[in-house]
Amino acid sequence: MRAVILSGGGDAPGVNAVLRGFVHAARGASIDVVGCRYGFEGLLDPKAMLPLSVEDVRGILPKGGFVLGCSTRVNPFFATTGASREPHDLGPAIVDRLRSERIDAMVLIGGDGTMVAAARFSKLGMPTVGVPKTIDNDLGETDVTCGFDSAVTTGVHAIDALHSTAEAHSRVMVVEVMGRNAGFIALHAGVAGGADVILVPEIPYRLERVARKIREREALGLRFSIVVVAEGARPFDGDVLQLESGRPGLLPRLGGAGERLVRQLETLDLGHEVRLTVLGHLQRGGSPSAFDRNLGTQLGTHAAELCAAGTFGRMVAWRDARVTSVPFPDEGRLHKRVDPQGSLANAARLVGIELGG
Ligand code: F6P
Repeated sequence: MRAVILSGGGDAPGVNAVLRGFVHAARGASIDVVGCRYGFEGLLDPKAMLPLSVEDVRGILPKGGFVLGCSTRVNPFFATTGASREPHDLGPAIVDRLRSERIDAMVLIGGDGTMVAAARFSKLGMPTVGVPKTIDNDLGETDVTCGFDSAVTTGVHAIDALHSTAEAHSRVMVVEVMGRNAGFIALHAGVAGGADVILVPEIPYRLERVARKIREREALGLRFSIVVVAEGARPFDGDVLQLESGRPGLLPRLGGAGERLVRQLETLDLGHEVRLTVLGHLQRGGSPSAFDRNLGTQLGTHAAELCAAGTFGRMVAWRDARVTSVPFPDEGRLHKRVDPQGSLANAARLVGIELGG
């Protein structure tokens, strides 16, 4: 068997562990591995395919980024390449080309968009396995995605560091974190970092509740506050802010939620200066956590086991602390969101964190 592997969408810490795990386990199962550079973009370029051996993946376990490269600009089913600027479906042509290059299987590492593409390639007759990876942790049917733990760890370190300067200057520090339309990074980093307010997309916020929390702390002699806001958070009477709108097959870029909140807080005469830190792509960078290395290794090796067994049309998943696989999630099961009544949100409220709604 000859299998091509690529990562769709953005990078995430731990994705190199997936690749390394896959290549090692594939060798044991006599599967030849071909790496596709720059994600889906590489599927359109014959020169982007390269054979991968165990030697090629040595030493990549602690590396951030993705050694094969990524692209978020191409969706093969809504491609805007060539003469036509109109999105067109290159799926069947890609499958034909892969077949002509004697590729028998495809392993797609990615988030919700990549799993939709995996299901479509599967329907086109290309035996496909998916591997869940995104710092956002917003993909359904898996308890956790590769990259999430590292992004949360980065967020916690940032919140820890901001505490001391917030306290020294008696400031309100707003920290904007990534996560698209899910608040997992904000909630997990915020609780672990001891934030005072956490605003997630799943709970539209009321500004007066944020202000009340800051004033309550002031009354206790606590002259600073840390407010974590997810990029997809919105006030009760406002919209999610975008930096760039989406187009067919590609998601919008979110951003501006932190800046809006700072402006809102500045109108309230809180008696504190308000400052903004946008963590941005720091959350995607750096060396993966031990958890993500181990998770990536298990997801990658299991993907090879599925290929070796001829079990396709499935996404590897992490459920109840073990690796397993599920059919590609359909639209109803594709997305996962923070449960506002879930145990971490509940614990957050019980330790006095304001969730804004
Ligand atoms: O999906 C991962 C993610 O990092 C989101 O949290 C964020 O909204 C987006 O990707 C950023 O995308 P880009 O790297 O294209 O700016």
